[in-house]
Amino acid sequence: MTDPAALFDALAARYERSFAPSHRDTARDLAPILERLRPGDVVVDAGCGTGRAFPHLVARDVRVLGLDASRSMLAQAAARASTDAVARLRCDLAARWPLRDGVADAVLALHAVLAHPPRADPWAFFRAVGAELARVCRSGALVAIDLPEPAWARASLEPLDGDWYRHVEPGGVAVEAFVPAPERVVAALGLELALLPCATGLRALGRAKGR
Ligand SMILES: C[S@@+](CC[C@H](N)C(=O)[O-])C[C@H]1O[C@@H](n2cnc3c(N)ncnc32)[C@H](O)[C@@H]1O
Repeated sequence: MTDPAALFDALAARYERSFAPSHRDTARDLAPILERLRPGDVVVDAGCGTGRAFPHLVARDVRVLGLDASRSMLAQAAARASTDAVARLRCDLAARWPLRDGVADAVLALHAVLAHPPRADPWAFFRAVGAELARVCRSGALVAIDLPEPAWARASLEPLDGDWYRHVEPGGVAVEAFVPAPERVVAALGLELALLPCATGLRALGRAKGR
């Protein structure tokens, strides 16, 4: 299954138990992001899922705009942080994001958010996401995008065609993931970001040029 809304609606109930990194890895992974934020910053959590990052971001006194396609993931995110500092918006990252131009001081896409693009043209998806990211970022906004590593996918998942892989979650949900070289994803997003290790693979980290 690659439709992210259907896929993560099906996974939401067990996401935290079987799919997400541990609380310790989450805290460790977020530290280099949190130290780059200032109180009052507007942080877009693209593909926010169950809102694992929300409490950490709220504690840093920033405003959070969480975007996700999955109603069930967003429902869990609502339970996680019920504060005016967090807004949750349902949208497809491949389409226009429901945000103003230049609103974001930071955009995060944590833990393989971009690994489930449309089968038909995954590269068009990355270009569309890159265009929206550039539109909503102010110049110099922080960008952090976590990407799975091809070596991990080859070792851990069932290979399909090309850069596509598959695995079946304990509840029986089949997950298809697109895991090309991270450098190619960053280039397709139109960004110049450094690739650093993180708990779930590599993190593309850097600053947006804005429009
Ligand atoms: C693996 S989860 C990561 C969630 C969260 N960022 C975290 O760190 O736990 C991927 C999330 O991205 C969302 N997602 C994936 N593709 C999307 C798309 N095209 N549009 C909107 N949300 C998408 C899924 O619904 C899911 O909640």
